[in-house]
Amino acid sequence: MSIFLEPEKPHAVCLPFPAQGHINPMLKLAILLHHRGFYITFVNTEYNHRRLQKSGAAGSNSPDFHFETIPDGLPQADSDTTQHIPSLCLSLKENGLAPFRQLLVKLNSSTEGIPPVTCIVSDAILSFAVVAADEIGVPCVCFRTTNACCFLCNKYLRKLIEKGIIPLKDSSYLTNGCLDTTVDCIPSLNNIRLRDFPAVIRTTDINDPMLNFSMEETERVSKASAIIFNTFDALEAEVLNALSPLCPPVYFIGPLHLLVNRLQENSLKFMGGNLWKEELGCIEWLNSKKPNSVVYVNFGSVTVLTPQQLIEFAWGLANSRKNFFWIIRSDTVVGDSANLPSEFVEETKDRGLIARWCPQEQVLSHPSIGVFLTHSGWNSTIESMCSGVPMMCWPFFADQFVNCRFACTEWGVGMEIDNNVNRVEVEKIVREMIGGEKGKSLKNKAIDWKKKAKEATEIDGSSYLNFNNLVKNVLLAKK
Ligand code: UDX
Repeated sequence: MSIFLEPEKPHAVCLPFPAQGHINPMLKLAILLHHRGFYITFVNTEYNHRRLQKSGAAGSNSPDFHFETIPDGLPQADSDTTQHIPSLCLSLKENGLAPFRQLLVKLNSSTEGIPPVTCIVSDAILSFAVVAADEIGVPCVCFRTTNACCFLCNKYLRKLIEKGIIPLKDSSYLTNGCLDTTVDCIPSLNNIRLRDFPAVIRTTDINDPMLNFSMEETERVSKASAIIFNTFDALEAEVLNALSPLCPPVYFIGPLHLLVNRLQENSLKFMGGNLWKEELGCIEWLNSKKPNSVVYVNFGSVTVLTPQQLIEFAWGLANSRKNFFWIIRSDTVVGDSANLPSEFVEETKDRGLIARWCPQEQVLSHPSIGVFLTHSGWNSTIESMCSGVPMMCWPFFADQFVNCRFACTEWGVGMEIDNNVNRVEVEKIVREMIGGEKGKSLKNKAIDWKKKAKEATEIDGSSYLNFNNLVKNVLLAKK
């Protein structure tokens, strides 16, 4: 009698940067790889793992998809708040490699039916994973969860230093309009202004830790087997041309959530990675509203408002007289002071709903949503475009300034709100976006992008094919 052994599955270790905007797209990618027959180890930090357990999102129902943890190197904290992103970046850069290496050894010596690790997919700002992959002789794909324009800006940071453009001469540059200077040395990014660059340029210090972190991580990624982005060819074609000669093979494989939604019989596609518990009652409330009548307000997982900014947004929304659905996390406002005036609450009780966290993809695809008031995080931006929803953009930090610039001027789907937010401007833009001529044209443009995103993820669409090629040419290839 002959015994046939099942061939071992390829095993991908997925390592997201430990923040919501990075965990979400990595989880989608892991689900897609699992669907292609990969055994998945998904690595969270201990801190986030505890939060995911609390929100009911940890764990999977497949024996071939399991979770592991590594420490983030920061002092122990019990709270439910977003960790300080620069501290996380710098801590993981210093302390991430050793526990990650140990985890790989553990996985490779397992006697519990876990196949040997055959590839690593890491966040592109955790470049220590490239070193770890090299040590065990497997390919490492770096996943950059911003868009490609942002990465291209980062590629040119050293050039801006050589040209004497950054660091800024003094702090007056931040306030007196100097950031409006256009930078013309980056191919495919025409008329980009200094203010549109990732926030790390907003420094007067050549030794600024985050400026240096961004430059170093961008450079280290060039040793990866490939770089992938949650974007699609039609959206960033020119940037792809400019980026390709400067990088290892680049694959645009997004929008990932659309690729996941295409999966038919796959219970994993419903697996969540939310650090906050979703409040589902909002869908019923949205069902009671007319099409295109609601302003959806959500500033993502990191943005923190001052109490005054909160008040300006509140009265801007109230005075517009439109419906609104507003997510205010427990840590949205500096110093725990998310207190809205009682007059505001009373005045808007019939047309406003406030919650702490929601199923955003579902909300954005609800017909009642007319406009998205957003911080321009990349996930929010691409999710909004995929739902055909135009945006009011209020960028806060990191890549959000680039996203805002592209949404408003290149892709034609957004209007920017001044950084120094005031209620009169908020009211005016809300009225323009819901019911105004400009709002209609931005809506039409958003619907065009929705169609293009769908095309990219259909069988034979660019992202679908790029994903296949990534799997075949990189993740399943021998190093
Ligand atoms: C951060 C940066 O801000 C962003 O620019 C970068 O590209 C990734 O990391 P974040 O600020 O959280 O992310 O914003 P965003 O990129 O928009 O990601 C938020 C994610 O959380 C989205 O996938 C969104 O759908 C989800 N979300 C947000 C919810 O599911 N419910 C909510 O209530 C809020």
